[in-house]
Amino acid sequence: MYPDNHQQSRDLYQRALKSLPGGNTRTTVFMKPFPIYAASGAGCRVRDIDGNEYIDCINNFTSLIHGHAHPALIEAATKQLALGSAFAMPTESEIDLAELLTSRLPSVEQVRFTNSGTEAVMMALKAARAYTGRPKIAKCEGAYHGSYDYAEVSLDPTPSAWGGNAPVSVAYAKGTPENVLADVITIPFNDVEAAVSLVREHGPELACVLVDPMPNRAGLVPADKAYLEALRQVTHEIGAMLIFDEVITFRLGYHGAQGLWGIDPDLTTLGKIIGGGFPVGAIAGGKQFMSVFDPSSGKPALPHGGTFSANPVTMRAGLAAMKLLDSVAFARLDKIGQAVRDGINAAFRKTGVPGRAVGLGSLLKIHFTDRDIRDYRSAYLNAAEAKRQTAFNAALLNRGIFAASYGLMALSLPMTDADVDTIITAAAASLEEVAALG
Ligand SMILES: Cc1ncc(COP(=O)(O)O)c(C=O)c1O
Repeated sequence: MYPDNHQQSRDLYQRALKSLPGGNTRTTVFMKPFPIYAASGAGCRVRDIDGNEYIDCINNFTSLIHGHAHPALIEAATKQLALGSAFAMPTESEIDLAELLTSRLPSVEQVRFTNSGTEAVMMALKAARAYTGRPKIAKCEGAYHGSYDYAEVSLDPTPSAWGGNAPVSVAYAKGTPENVLADVITIPFNDVEAAVSLVREHGPELACVLVDPMPNRAGLVPADKAYLEALRQVTHEIGAMLIFDEVITFRLGYHGAQGLWGIDPDLTTLGKIIGGGFPVGAIAGGKQFMSVFDPSSGKPALPHGGTFSANPVTMRAGLAAMKLLDSVAFARLDKIGQAVRDGINAAFRKTGVPGRAVGLGSLLKIHFTDRDIRDYRSAYLNAAEAKRQTAFNAALLNRGIFAASYGLMALSLPMTDADVDTIITAAAASLEEVAALG
């Protein structure tokens, strides 16, 4: 049971406290009383340094769609390592991966690689400003897009800061300059009327609307098609760009979320799965929008460097990972995702614990409420719901299932039907424990 059989993790954390602030270098992996340190991973399983084994249902926050240490990805990366890991020259590998991405995403003609999703979102917002000459951006309340000041506005406002139907822009990090808040228009997710009216109100100053078609932190509920269509239409109307953040949702289908919804954004941000397990991000879109990066006629409208951008190890592993993701792979991911959602929902009904699993494809999120979840506010946990979620997560961990503390699961292709059954059985037993709490 955690934390008792995790002595080596406990010791490492004590050591880490001296050289890393709070023993941590990545807020999202912190847990109390101490994080569990990974030793190795193979397929859908991860082993910690105390020898405990888990089925990995986070997969490095959705990025490892092929699980850990996939032989084809090891081969692609090590072959490249032997040839050199990074050069002050482009390599063929970046063209290969860009061509694959343009062939899959309907709205994309050109790609620019970065080292993270954060950087991709930052450059996409800057590209929208450079292209339109306008200062403001709009984003959805509660949606996570990485750590760029503008992108993280109103990521986690508490109910006292919600305001009315037109959300107020609230700083996420201390020290966020007031003028950043003034340049971010926060719109409600899945509320066509309110979002369109806010976008119109700020129209002449808006460079872009940034939207994740299924925002994880705002509840992981798919956007209504009408909502995305309305954003597409209103951005055309006011001359602003529509940016889809597909850093996570690209794992929903061969043509990404934009293919599933049938909507073409102007720019798309990518990351996670396209790096085959290595650091990555990308901005992608139509040639006319991507031209802001073009240095061929002198200083571009938007200069962008990046010492490790498009490094060939990432590019080669990413290409191998994406090639393995064919339509059969997506069908399998859809099937296991639905099986886990159905299994968990059956367990909710059986135990009488209020709640359900939502999501699409290989992504699911467990909510401990019977409220209709449509957006950040309806997904916001009250104290009783938060208590159930914490208890559920601890129970799941002690049954060898590693999921995100806030209820997210991202499944992977190496999971067998037996693994899927193990996950459902563990979730059902964990819900029994939650039910016993009363
Ligand atoms: C939708 C979305 N956008 C952007 C990011 C930032 O990506 P990265 O962690 O690679 O900086 C994330 C990370 O989880 C994300 O989920």
